[in-house]
Amino acid sequence: MTKPLAAPKGVYDVVGADSARWDALEARFYETAARYGYARVRIPVLEHTDLFVRSVGEATDIVRKEMYTFPDRAGRSLTLRPEGTAGMVRCFVEHSLDQQGLPWKASYGGAMFRAENVQRGRYRQFHQLGVEAIGVDDPALDVEVVTLGWDFLTGLGLADVTLLVNSIGRPEERTSYVGILGKYVEQTVPDLGPDDRERLKLNPLRILDSKDPRVQEALAGGPKLRESLGPDSLSHFEDVQSGLGALGVPYVVDDTLVRGLDYYTSTTFEYTSGALDAAQNALGGGGHYDGLVEMVGGPSLPGIGFALGVERILLACEAEDVLAPGGGVVDVIVLVAGDTGTVARLVVKELRDAGVKTDTAYGGRSLKAQFKHADRIGARVALVIGERDLDRGVITLRDLGSGEQVEIPVEETVQRVREVMDR
Ligand code: HAM
Repeated sequence: MTKPLAAPKGVYDVVGADSARWDALEARFYETAARYGYARVRIPVLEHTDLFVRSVGEATDIVRKEMYTFPDRAGRSLTLRPEGTAGMVRCFVEHSLDQQGLPWKASYGGAMFRAENVQRGRYRQFHQLGVEAIGVDDPALDVEVVTLGWDFLTGLGLADVTLLVNSIGRPEERTSYVGILGKYVEQTVPDLGPDDRERLKLNPLRILDSKDPRVQEALAGGPKLRESLGPDSLSHFEDVQSGLGALGVPYVVDDTLVRGLDYYTSTTFEYTSGALDAAQNALGGGGHYDGLVEMVGGPSLPGIGFALGVERILLACEAEDVLAPGGGVVDVIVLVAGDTGTVARLVVKELRDAGVKTDTAYGGRSLKAQFKHADRIGARVALVIGERDLDRGVITLRDLGSGEQVEIPVEETVQRVREVMDR
């Protein structure tokens, strides 16, 4: 026998109830985003590699170690998108969307690819849902974006979510801080591990994310990025905080929240879940990116957005027991006993036309086997159409929940099914 093939490591199928929950989650996200004025756009999965190198940044883990990059048939380097912001900004620039009234507000989602160490909540193909608002620098817009994500997550019923916020200021404000920080860490913890040494060399701000408890302890008493920020950055951050406070969105200021992508400036934020393992507890995150549009070849315009991880949200929903899978695949199944001509198929069609999720049994199986199938797919109602009953113009309706069974006139099928469904 041929050895069955499995999906590549870190890449999964979504089937059955998981798929239904996934659909519900996505629909709710796009509905929430639409209520805030974010229209959905669809951007490609493939982009030129250079887009991510320029935007996400050469020194980041994503670009250095995690991208799926390959030459196309003409030798051009393409990459499976590791995130969506770069593509959204490229789309904004390519179609001159700044001509359509600013801010340009859009939602997006889909598969992202990063060659990471696979563990629960960390996959190689994963899925994001996000929004971006490009073109206007206003703390009120930051507040809107952060609130949208908060509303969506808490609206799902998740209670154990914490919103972390920080400001990392402008690049020029960070330059002096990064020098001071590097020296301080090297002096306080002289025997740094290889990971942290690499961070200090390539992307010193990322030392704030160090996993080494000695470094974290040293950082607690060390210089703070906030102290290097100028008055504009500080007042922007204060406005964001007071805006969130005014809307009753609870937040925690986290001085060490720097995030793993290079394009961020000013506000950064993350939604974490207490129901997930600490190493993968970020349900999503985002921030302001002031130089990105220009870096991609567009005008000098700021942007802000976030992306949420679908798999992690579903894990958190499972842990908190919310967003339960809704019902079976179909509501009604039409079963056939004997030769009923085309009547059964017409009843199926009539129910489907009336908007009822309906299926029927195939393959000429026994009535017993058909009932077993009805049970497996989770139907609520079975309609049994028998050759002899049809002579009298009736069919049998069985409520598969209660087991109750009645004969009904064929022409009343839709109405009687609805009565059972409404119970
Ligand atoms: P990110 O923090 O890299 O940000 O990813 C956002 C979220 O995607 C994470 O918080 C996590 O929930 C999920 N995620 C990331 N990597 C994986 C993985 N390997 N497996 C499962 N889930 C994962 C961004 O991607 C930015 N583009 C967000 C943004 C939008 N910033 C501004 N606008």
